[in-house]
Amino acid sequence: MTSLTSLPQWNDLEDHATELADLHMRDLFALDPARFERFSIREGDLLLDYSKNRVVGATIPLLTDLARAAHLESRRDRMFAGDRINETENRAVLHTALRADPDGTLIVDGQNVMPMIAAVQEKMRVVSQQVRDGTWKGATGLPICDVVNIGIGGSDLGPAMAVEALTPFIHERLKFHFVSNVDGSAIHETLQRLNPATTLFIVASKTFTTQETIANATTARGWLAEALGAPAVAKHFVALSTNRDKVAAFGIDPDHMFEFWDWVGGRFSLWSAIGLSIAIAVGFDRFREMLAGARAMDEHFKTRRLEDNMPVMLALIGIWNANFLGAHSLAVLPYDQHLRRLPAYLQQLDMESNGKSAKIHTGPILFGEAGTNGQHAFYQLIHQGTRLIPCDFLMAAESATPLDHHHLMLLANALAQPEALMKGKTLDESKAELLAEGLSPDQAERLAPHRVFPGNRPTNTLLYKTLDPRTLGMILALYEHKIFVQGVIWGIDSFDQWGVELGKTLAKAILPELTAPKTATGHDCSTNGLIAEIKRLRSVP
Ligand code: F6P
Repeated sequence: MTSLTSLPQWNDLEDHATELADLHMRDLFALDPARFERFSIREGDLLLDYSKNRVVGATIPLLTDLARAAHLESRRDRMFAGDRINETENRAVLHTALRADPDGTLIVDGQNVMPMIAAVQEKMRVVSQQVRDGTWKGATGLPICDVVNIGIGGSDLGPAMAVEALTPFIHERLKFHFVSNVDGSAIHETLQRLNPATTLFIVASKTFTTQETIANATTARGWLAEALGAPAVAKHFVALSTNRDKVAAFGIDPDHMFEFWDWVGGRFSLWSAIGLSIAIAVGFDRFREMLAGARAMDEHFKTRRLEDNMPVMLALIGIWNANFLGAHSLAVLPYDQHLRRLPAYLQQLDMESNGKSAKIHTGPILFGEAGTNGQHAFYQLIHQGTRLIPCDFLMAAESATPLDHHHLMLLANALAQPEALMKGKTLDESKAELLAEGLSPDQAERLAPHRVFPGNRPTNTLLYKTLDPRTLGMILALYEHKIFVQGVIWGIDSFDQWGVELGKTLAKAILPELTAPKTATGHDCSTNGLIAEIKRLRSVP
């Protein structure tokens, strides 16, 4: 097989990057007043503006040629068709089926999966409605007021992010809590705030073997049984899993288990039963709207030509920045308080999917923070530091809060940052500004270099009308497909996660050593030494 970097399309892009090396985006904008229209894509009320990247008209066909050479279209079609494209786990990748037209047919291993999906969704609809209207009663006959999702990774980050994103739609009686970390403070401090009689625990785990989740669920079950008696567990625990036997062994009634399937990857699972907390929070109809938004993005991804295809262009711009302009990271900057958890969610989605070995650089180091908080923390480095950090800005035209003057300030900041990153400020502009402020020529000369902004820093902007369930679904599906496209081009399996295994195995071996009287000798001297020091500090005999 020809390696990616020996493809003529790759070499053309390398040559093109050399040709563009001295171009500055401020000149590109000055030369082309149609740049915004040329380099933006719309889908409904969602707009992607990628014009503030170091691209010219000729860059786009070079990038789409690379995508075609990597057989992107056929790989995409194979994913939607349910082929086993997750090769290292020999699985289909079908999170898209969870939001597909329910009247359609999708055969996987000889079985139409659509009726199975519909049956679980119907169960989610009924139970979410019961919890919301108070007909789901706890063991003492009281309605549920607090819902605790216990899960980690994809069984936590998606629901936690989406419930927060849809805060304006949350049922007023209900409060939501997400416990993931095995650190006992997380579950302990959550339980302290709760009344067992009005609490529903959702134990979310695809495998139902994850150490953190089982430890937290066991602690929660003990707390509830102690307060209300063991039989009460049946009314206060439900499970979301693919593993019926383990759920039953844990003591959760299989009738209270919401199933999903091995072809739903953990980090792609919020569309499945893993989204139960979202459905309870905002109601099943709104959960369906989120699915419909994702479906609209799926259709867009399947049918638009690559040049007008939002996830494809977002992915290709990412590859251009990473592999041809030398960027190693990506900052995701939602100017939307309700998307505060989006960077953490995308960290798993992107870094667990595309943090894989190849001969070239693959997935970026993804980080981020809600605007404007990030501006007062790490933007200094993005503007004037020595590294190139591409950024995705997200913003809503309208806010759900009644404080529109706040929203206008937020928007002004959200627009100013990409403009500043693109334009920068020259030494002459900086000097002129200082002189205009009344500084002496000497002072201006001395200070001006510190106030120079190189600019020419790449950004994308995603603009939407307002953050409703449909828009959230579109944005999340956009990033899912973007990551898929990049994985296809880099030639990696974006759907496995072998890189998380080694640490898990070592932790299992270390756990008993922390309390054993025998000195640990089986590790490197640093790990052995740290174990010994922990035991000394904890006074282990
Ligand atoms: O971090 C590894 C991982 O397997 C993730 O991919 C997954 O989302 C998470 O652990 C939780 O797994 P489970 O849902 O099986 O508890």
